[in-house]
Amino acid sequence: MNTYVTGNTIKQLREGRNLTQAELAQMIGVSSKTVSKWETAKGLPDITLLQPLAQALGISVIELMNGEQITNRNVSANLLRGKFYVCPVCGNAIHSTGSALVSCCGITLPPLEAEEADEDHGITIENVEDEHFITVHHPMTKEHFISFAAFVTCDRIQMVKFYPEGNAETRMQLRGRGQLYYYCNRHGLFRKKV
Ligand SMILES: [Fe+2]
Repeated sequence: MNTYVTGNTIKQLREGRNLTQAELAQMIGVSSKTVSKWETAKGLPDITLLQPLAQALGISVIELMNGEQITNRNVSANLLRGKFYVCPVCGNAIHSTGSALVSCCGITLPPLEAEEADEDHGITIENVEDEHFITVHHPMTKEHFISFAAFVTCDRIQMVKFYPEGNAETRMQLRGRGQLYYYCNRHGLFRKKV
């Protein structure tokens, strides 16, 4: 991840929009020499210019900072094609219906890839009346715990937060076919087909 916009990013985006340095400069109220300096790594745009610069280049500030443009083609938004992102610093858990550039605590978060349940991260699902009782068989200490579980179908997501020193168990209504995801703070994302 870049911590700030780079000259290469500005140049690529400017050329992608068929703008000259002078045209871009005029749009954001600087000189073409200034834009030239940015693009050749001899200077950086002031932070107050990031918003107008992103706007002139047709992207968001966060995309500009990361040098990555995201096109979300998941227009039908099948949640089963969605992605989970978890911040390793604060534990923030985010689900996105499509491609996204997700940033938390100053870190760009990669979309997580789920593994099939393994013997250290087993799960049982029992029918209880019209609900399901879900238990993840895993330690729940402050250092190593399951932080959430989520049942995802094509059109619905249910998410349950767990806390260290509690139990990694919950009731959920598992309606329809889907994936049950659960996240271990040390070992990452797991899933089980339901
Ligand atoms: Fe674990």
